[in-house]
Amino acid sequence: MKKEYIELYNKAVEAMNNAYSPYSKFKVGASVLLDDGNILNGFNIENASYGLTNCAERNCLFRAYMEGYKKENIKMLLVVADTSLPVSPCGSCRQVMQELMEANTLVILANLKGDIKEMTVDSLLPFNFNSEDLNV
Ligand code: THU
Repeated sequence: MKKEYIELYNKAVEAMNNAYSPYSKFKVGASVLLDDGNILNGFNIENASYGLTNCAERNCLFRAYMEGYKKENIKMLLVVADTSLPVSPCGSCRQVMQELMEANTLVILANLKGDIKEMTVDSLLPFNFNSEDLNV
């Protein structure tokens, strides 16, 4: 793994271990590197009403925005889970990434074996629906 990913990876794994996922038992962690050097993380939070579950990636991005960061402040996002291949973000998270991150920002997919797949917001959701499609 590249040296620049290690701290981000460790923070995402730390979040993953705290995931609130009593129903699926599937733990996911995410972290974002910000342009001031800070790293914020997040994990999935489930609900007995299953559809109210929120994924790690979205919780992490919402946390960054709640702290006052904007898309141009987010340098990269890393997501990790105990999967055989680097974990693949769900469609809802990909759509939220395109809203809250820049199109060419790096999204690093990882697993607990340390396998890495480097993607971007745009490569995860090509030809996406976005603000340019709305006449506002
Ligand atoms: N999950 C995430 O946190 N991120 C993803 O990209 C995929 C799915 C969570 C949602 C739910 O708590 C559990 O994984 C099983 O779907």
